[in-house]
Amino acid sequence: MLRFETAGESHGECLVATLTGLPSGVPIDISRIDRELWRRQQGFGRGGRMKIETDRVHFVSGIRHSQTIGSPIAILLANKDWKNWTDVLPVEDYEGSEEKKKPLNRPRPGHADLAGAIKYNQPDARYVLERASARETTARVAVGAVCKEFLRNFGVTVLSHVVAVGHERLERQPAWAEIEALCQKDEVLLGCVDGDTEQRFKAVVDKAFRTGDTVGGVFEVVAHGLPIGLGSHIAWDTRLDGRLAQAIVSMQAVKGVEIGFAADGASSFGSKVQDTIGYNKDERVFTRGANRAGGLEGGMTNGQDLIVRGLLKPISTLRRPLESVDLPTRESASAAYERSDVCVVPAAGVIGEAMVSIVLTQAMLEKFGGDSLGETLRNFEGYQKQVREY
Ligand SMILES: Cc1cc2nc3c(=O)[nH]c(=O)nc-3n(C[C@H](O)[C@H](O)[C@H](O)COP(=O)(O)O)c2cc1C
Repeated sequence: MLRFETAGESHGECLVATLTGLPSGVPIDISRIDRELWRRQQGFGRGGRMKIETDRVHFVSGIRHSQTIGSPIAILLANKDWKNWTDVLPVEDYEGSEEKKKPLNRPRPGHADLAGAIKYNQPDARYVLERASARETTARVAVGAVCKEFLRNFGVTVLSHVVAVGHERLERQPAWAEIEALCQKDEVLLGCVDGDTEQRFKAVVDKAFRTGDTVGGVFEVVAHGLPIGLGSHIAWDTRLDGRLAQAIVSMQAVKGVEIGFAADGASSFGSKVQDTIGYNKDERVFTRGANRAGGLEGGMTNGQDLIVRGLLKPISTLRRPLESVDLPTRESASAAYERSDVCVVPAAGVIGEAMVSIVLTQAMLEKFGGDSLGETLRNFEGYQKQVREY
């Protein structure tokens, strides 16, 4: 029903995204979308590219007078760096282009370079890395920000924070208000709600900078204000947990996903893991003893905050490169180095928010339908009344 696609190369003219299936009448605030793009560019540990780019959304269809009109939304996101790459990546070949090429001949372990060059039968990995690059996530964040504009009409907010960088961890679960305050800040260090822990995170990234290394971590996406019953237990592909996992692991460098406190749960007894059920007779609502399930049971939202974590491996381009092979000669050689990030966990959190927002918007539209926001809201309110009266 709701689908999106992205196109574009890291150093190409622009990134492109289309989003089809959003109802008409959704108010769109472009400044909020640009702020999401700005958030994706932040964090201590980013490379030089983020100093070149100032990402701004440019809608070319699907939005008129600051509202969706129900038709496919098309988005362009310019790459400022393109002006330095026009000779290297021309659309049309030209005489002498061979000398201007910037082949990537020494594939980086952990990157898409080697498998991609072999699969696409390219002599080097330039075109592979151009698309594998996480610059693509700018387009995902723009699409996710449009989905956030839809979700806010239903009281749903999706935010993120960083829970680990390298071996350092945040040892407590923050309150929603803390995450909200963090995401409103106009300066981003490492996206942690706790100042002392953030300084420990920074020390890890400092060390990676000093030693020509890189470092990964864990981000947590939290969705607040969800209705009960998005997704369904009835089939493998309707379960929301599985769909969220796919969305998060599809992100570049994300190698694991955790829903709720899955890792702790796997090493505990059931009596310590399940969230007990109570009932408040005055307010006529079910209550839960905790939220270790991360807001999902049976592949359905249960009305608690949705908690999804992404486990990010360290960036694979190293200033002190690892062992690789020179593709033309097949001799051993140090892997290529191209201007690169050292730590991207806060940015990955923002991308994770976008992916979760897209999956939640899909699930909302599957459940409530509607070609206009008014129709979707009517269906939503009718269902919420049914839930209240249950
Ligand atoms: C926000 C973000 C920024 C990234 N920046 C870089 C980078 O500067 N250099 C790099 O080698 N990889 C970077 N990556 C990771 C690569 O894109 C990724 O490792 C590569 O495409 C291979 O995919 P895989 O790690 O998922 O297997 C970044 C990932 C994210 C999420």
